[in-house]
Amino acid sequence: MGKSFLKAAGIYFVIGILMGLTMGIIHDFRLASVHAHINLLGWVSMALFGFFYHLYPEAANTKLSRAHFWLHHIGLPVMMLGIAAQTFGMESALGAAIAGSIAVVLGVIFFAVNLFRHVNIKEASA
Ligand code: HEM
Repeated sequence: MGKSFLKAAGIYFVIGILMGLTMGIIHDFRLASVHAHINLLGWVSMALFGFFYHLYPEAANTKLSRAHFWLHHIGLPVMMLGIAAQTFGMESALGAAIAGSIAVVLGVIFFAVNLFRHVNIKEASA
């Protein structure tokens, strides 16, 4: 689980900065929001999920972590494509943007519940 998130994070990082570079070169910033979310929900968040599951392997093999994994991996590309399509005038893509966003939010809630179940405060402060 941790390794999969870290590898996916690396892929999103490359896509995110290539988008930023392209936007800068062609001076078209319409996809700035997609670029920002690919970098933050793709690269930064997934890298943190990866390190968390690596640090707490008992949290990585749970129903919550598996649900989180699939909700984030399916939700994020659907959300990004939905926002990008809307930016280019396809109003019907709103549903995809919302559905993808809800999947990501649900996944993050599952992640947070899992985190609170497995991070032992006494152990962390020792
Ligand atoms: C070489 C790497 C990168 C390049 C070339 C790049 C380029 C850009 C460009 C051209 C913009 C649009 C600026 C504008 O609208 O005036 C932008 C916006 C932004 N970038 Fe990047 N970026 C890079 C990496 C990152 C990373 C790593 C993050 C986050 C972890 C990030 C987060 C953002 C955010 C939050 C915005 C504002 C989005 C908005 O206004 O809607 N960028 N970037």
